[in-house]
Amino acid sequence: MSSAPSSHRILLGVSGGIAAYKSAELVRLLIKAGAEVQVVMTEAAQHFVGAATFQALSGRAVRTHLWDPAAEAAMGHIELARWASQVVIAPASADLLARLAQGHADDLLATLCLASAAPLSLAPAMNRQMWAHPATQANLDLLRQRGARILGPAAGEQACGEVGEGRMLEPSAIATAVLTPSVGGVLQGRRVLISAGPTLEDIDPVRFVGNRSSGKMGFAIAQVAQAMGAEVTLIAGPVALATPSGVQRVDVRSALQMREAVLQHLDGQHVFIAAAAVADYRPREVAAQKIKKCADTLELQLVRNPDIVAEVAARQDRPLVVGFAAETNDVESHACDKLARKKLDMIAANDVSIAGQGFESERNALNVYWHDGMLRIAPARKSEVARQLLTCIAERLAHATGTPS
Ligand code: PMT
Repeated sequence: MSSAPSSHRILLGVSGGIAAYKSAELVRLLIKAGAEVQVVMTEAAQHFVGAATFQALSGRAVRTHLWDPAAEAAMGHIELARWASQVVIAPASADLLARLAQGHADDLLATLCLASAAPLSLAPAMNRQMWAHPATQANLDLLRQRGARILGPAAGEQACGEVGEGRMLEPSAIATAVLTPSVGGVLQGRRVLISAGPTLEDIDPVRFVGNRSSGKMGFAIAQVAQAMGAEVTLIAGPVALATPSGVQRVDVRSALQMREAVLQHLDGQHVFIAAAAVADYRPREVAAQKIKKCADTLELQLVRNPDIVAEVAARQDRPLVVGFAAETNDVESHACDKLARKKLDMIAANDVSIAGQGFESERNALNVYWHDGMLRIAPARKSEVARQLLTCIAERLAHATGTPS
């Protein structure tokens, strides 16, 4: 592990969970690496480990209560929030994640998180069912969107006897992540352009041709890419989603508008990820007035839209180009055909015939292909799928440019 510069003033929050005993080792490792550590325990944490253990290891009195006049006289909680160069919470229980997501200030640790502008890292630890619960995952998504770094959890045998995801990362892994800013920042210094959502092709002032894309996949990629250190520009079709923090968003409606926005923002990009479901066709003419229903049938003439991702891939000064292929049958062969025909660097094949993943869903699964390799991303929440996809893209990018990932 690298040794810490004196600027590492770590406010280590310990919340209630059996993994709290491992945090004693985390304190030891951080101190050994040269960091200053101030431990703050929640009430629940004190049922698992005594404050004296942390006090002995950190060399500082452990803080436990918001309303402790003696402790407040030494360093008030606002001062403590300002003192920290990083806030790290290990273990972060499901309850603590929920309270942080909601912005509660009902104990010292939650209050410090609200009051501190320092980067926040969370090492979740809980039973696998609690980890998989949609409420916990939604809280994590919200915290990630606000810039929190989520460390782990790991999978394996749990204290409750079950086996699965939810174990706290080992103290050495947490310490390395906390002391090495580049960990998790594999896209640091990279500019990433992402298209997301559907395009809507107007028929008349009240009707359009569209598709079922919600934008969730592309937005998850934007959010995770930003968290991995990239400078992200997101070209978004009409979707009802909040802009991930730190991401530049450009809203468009039609395929022609999406093409224009992509080309306008292409200069200097290292990666283009085309997650948008762009309409292949648009009505030849857009009626100026609402079309009246007179005849029994109505014929609509459609013309081909330009293929945005193929156009980007055809450019001389192109970035790394990653397409998506939403398919309902022969997924691999259709995806690989698109990879070759559109001259892409990578393609993420998305089997949208499987219920509960792909369009509109919170979850997805992808098979990613490039000319001499492939990666299977198992069904997971879109943020996790995005994380695995972007890690793979970062590796391909490093491979293409000869820089270490
Ligand atoms: O938005 P969600 O609800 O989260 O759903 C996610 C998703 C299923 C939309 C997404 O993961 C996905 O698969 N996106 C691509 C959908 C698609 O339109 O695929 P395609 O096979 O039609 O297009 C292939 C590639 O060419 C895509 O990268 C597409 O962006 C691009 N394309 C297509 C047509 C066109 N005129 N221009 C393009 O750039």
